[in-house]
Amino acid sequence: MAKNMVPDWYYNEFEQIGVDFGSVEEVESYDEKRKHFRDSQQELAYFEKAIGLKPHFEVLEIGCGTAALALGLARKCKAVTAIDVSKTMLEYAKEKAREKDVTNISFANAGFLTFESETNFDAIVTQVAFHHLPDFWKMVGIQNMYGLLKDGGVLCLRDSILSFDVKKHKEFVDEYVRITGEKTGEEMANEVKVNITQEYPTLDWIIEGMLRRAGFSIKKVDRHTGYIATFVCQK
Ligand SMILES: C[S@@+](CC[C@H](N)C(=O)[O-])C[C@H]1O[C@@H](n2cnc3c(N)ncnc32)[C@H](O)[C@@H]1O
Repeated sequence: MAKNMVPDWYYNEFEQIGVDFGSVEEVESYDEKRKHFRDSQQELAYFEKAIGLKPHFEVLEIGCGTAALALGLARKCKAVTAIDVSKTMLEYAKEKAREKDVTNISFANAGFLTFESETNFDAIVTQVAFHHLPDFWKMVGIQNMYGLLKDGGVLCLRDSILSFDVKKHKEFVDEYVRITGEKTGEEMANEVKVNITQEYPTLDWIIEGMLRRAGFSIKKVDRHTGYIATFVCQK
């Protein structure tokens, strides 16, 4: 089979599950919501340090959304390739790059399973996008990311990666939904409920096993809340 031919049983990553990031209303309100519950400067500083960003780096961001992180990284390196399965997100992100006069980002409508590149990257970053894939396809995605990195390249993966005690899942998730609601409002609390019921958050030890089996060595793991974790690993 030709490399870019996809069989009909293949996972369709372009079909949005859970929160619909193909919707114009969702995308238009995304950045506004993001400002209230995310600290973009802190995220940029974290990712920059985790990947050891240098001016000559070529970085791939997967699931870039409105490109908040990609725009920050692009100002400090040679080039960023920012990809997303949502064309609506990409249009919004492209417009932002134009407005801010950032010209070293190339955008592509592709995802963890479908992106191909003739050149390899110094680093890959991704945040809150991987939970759109079920576990088997996450493993395929991890193998693809491994293949897209240069030798010694770094992957920084942040997502809903669960490290709480599953025996106490009712208490933990109840409390997490309550705290999210208090800090960021009812809409975000509902997104946690959508995440745990309709999307695919994964247990930390499963992600760890997948990364190791793909060949990565894990340099650092930050379990931020019991619900979110960041894995920094090297090819
Ligand atoms: C919660 S948003 C996060 C966007 C951005 N990374 C951020 O932190 O603001 C999730 C994004 O992942 C994208 N996405 C969903 N499935 C994907 C896949 N299989 N490959 C790449 N991106 C995907 C969605 O279209 C959406 O833009």
